[in-house]
Amino acid sequence: MDQRPIGVFDSGLGGLTALKELRQLLPGEELIYFGDTGRVPYGGRGRDTILRYARQDVAFLRTFDPKAIIIACGTVSANALAELTEENDLPVFGVVAPAAQAAASATRGGRIGLIGTAASIRSGAYEREIARLKPEARVFSQACPLFVPLVENGRFLPGDPVAELVAQDYLSPLREQNIDVLVLGCTHYPLLSPVIRAAMGPEVTLIDTGKACAKEAAEQLARRGLLAERARGGCRYFVSDSTEDFARLAGIFLGEPVAGGVERVEIEQY
Ligand code: DGL
Repeated sequence: MDQRPIGVFDSGLGGLTALKELRQLLPGEELIYFGDTGRVPYGGRGRDTILRYARQDVAFLRTFDPKAIIIACGTVSANALAELTEENDLPVFGVVAPAAQAAASATRGGRIGLIGTAASIRSGAYEREIARLKPEARVFSQACPLFVPLVENGRFLPGDPVAELVAQDYLSPLREQNIDVLVLGCTHYPLLSPVIRAAMGPEVTLIDTGKACAKEAAEQLARRGLLAERARGGCRYFVSDSTEDFARLAGIFLGEPVAGGVERVEIEQY
């Protein structure tokens, strides 16, 4: 048993896809969420910058003495998981391996689509993990750099003409490859699920990386005896830019007001 909080971070809103799932799976846990909204998007940046930002995000979360860190960001998981794991003496969970596992189990025809940020696709991390789990599978990847700004600006609801146009443009090459599974390799993308589903058709299984990661982390924490014993935990939210914008969009996505409000952090100090 461990009553300490779990730290969760992303470059912005995307990590809420993991947080939402964690709250359902582990309602007794205290969660600390950090969204680096002042520096989003990470996905167009070089690996050095992503690593520097991620180290600062972890350093901030560590001020709460967490029992584990969840990297609820495909870009950081794909580019910096090894370093963050090595540098921290606590469990660090990323999204790549659980999402690859879910994709490898879900595919019937072995044709898997992968979408993510430019930095995630460039890293080859998802492809390597899928190849390890299912060597015969073929992966068709596509970077979708405009998806994250759409989400961060609240343009993720079904019927949004800009989101629909961008999704058609990015996803039509994948449709032509007859994939049966599509890995949403960035935690922002599940917010666009209805739009992505409409573009891909109902026969394609969408893999939500944030959800897959939350499930894996919950299982691992239970196995290691690290779960908290309390009926209901809370969640504190921190961002590095406007707290109002985050609270509004997070409330829409979580389907409930962001209880307790959102606090601002000067992340460059960490
Ligand atoms: N949500 C993130 C990811 O999973 C970050 C996107 C970005 O900052 O570019 O990749």
